[in-house]
Amino acid sequence: MADYSVTPWEVKGDVDYDRLVRDFGTSYIDQSLMNRVEKHTGKPHFMLKRKVFFSHRDFNWILDKYEKDEKFFLYTGRGPSGDTHLGHLLPWIFTQYLQEKFGVELYFQITDDEKYMHDRSLTRKQVSDFSYENILDIIALGFDPDKTFIFKNTEYIKTMYKISTDIAKHVTFSTAKSIFGFQNSSNIGMIFFPSLQAATCFLPSELKGKNIPCLIPAAIDQDDYWRGIAREIAPKLGYYKPAQIHSKFLPALQRGEKMSASKPNTAIFTTDEPEVAEKKIKSAFTGGRDTVEEHRKHGGNPDIDSAFQYLYMILEEDDKKIEEIERDYRAGNLLSGELKQIAAEKIKIFLKEHQRKRESAKKTFDKFILRD
Ligand code: TYM
Repeated sequence: MADYSVTPWEVKGDVDYDRLVRDFGTSYIDQSLMNRVEKHTGKPHFMLKRKVFFSHRDFNWILDKYEKDEKFFLYTGRGPSGDTHLGHLLPWIFTQYLQEKFGVELYFQITDDEKYMHDRSLTRKQVSDFSYENILDIIALGFDPDKTFIFKNTEYIKTMYKISTDIAKHVTFSTAKSIFGFQNSSNIGMIFFPSLQAATCFLPSELKGKNIPCLIPAAIDQDDYWRGIAREIAPKLGYYKPAQIHSKFLPALQRGEKMSASKPNTAIFTTDEPEVAEKKIKSAFTGGRDTVEEHRKHGGNPDIDSAFQYLYMILEEDDKKIEEIERDYRAGNLLSGELKQIAAEKIKIFLKEHQRKRESAKKTFDKFILRD
């Protein structure tokens, strides 16, 4: 048994990404795929080069289609259970890059139904407020207002319901149980819910009356929906199977967990005051040694250092700078406190800028919302 688990609702333990590739039957993003992306984008995103996005299904097929003038659409989403944290931004920043470079549409699903039903303590009002706040974060990342369609399930249900019921009709309770671990105590809303998350894979095809390839950038925790439901059902309904590109998880401030909105003390939120975020980074789990002498002698371990991982996975785009930081840290020339200071400065600049863009997103909000 693995001593970790990765499901849409919980990620626990030290994730073994190689094992996930085997267990989920996905493929690594290799150099030849990266070269192909480079051909279309000019330069592969640092998250690809650094293997933050490390795995895929059918991305080659998406590019085959694209090269034959059959454009794909992007699909990703958010379950509004709390404020947005840095981990959520990771796949969205990459999605924005894909949209810009390939000039494609994005459908962004807000699963306000899922979070309301999953967490008994969340009220309708809270979920609705989080939806609004989360959407501001999405818009702030610079998506194209003419090509981006954000919808909340509870509002857009008239269109979604037909596709969802087409899917649900083909999924037995026993299949849903084995994929998602539902039990007798699970509420019936959650048992139906996967058909709604799968439905968006086919939404543009339904809206436009022709098959359109779908590419889903997300962390690998969402894979159950695609592997277990959407890709199984697609051929039965005459749709293309959706393709995926998977990221790793941005770690928590503490060791051995992913950053998670349901555990607020693990996360840096987009709404944190920059000085609060600085304090959080300073208290984050370190790969440094116990004493300066030991650190100078043996060096630090950036692989388990949360501050380094924030720089590597999301904050420091400059390859030269990140290589230098990594080298100095491993060699013991850069102390843990100094590394944290570098990360703190970066995050403060990032948050100030993001919070400004978030504020102006209030003015363009309506342009992004898809309605029946
Ligand atoms: P949610 O709200 O849990 O997560 C939103 C997105 O953030 C990713 N994510 C992370 N990525 C990197 N590091 C982390 N620590 C981290 N935590 C979360 C998730 O993989 C996801 O991409 N049911 C979904 C909403 C949804 C969706 C989708 C997500 C509906 N349709 C299509 C992705 C693609 C949810 O609750 O996501």
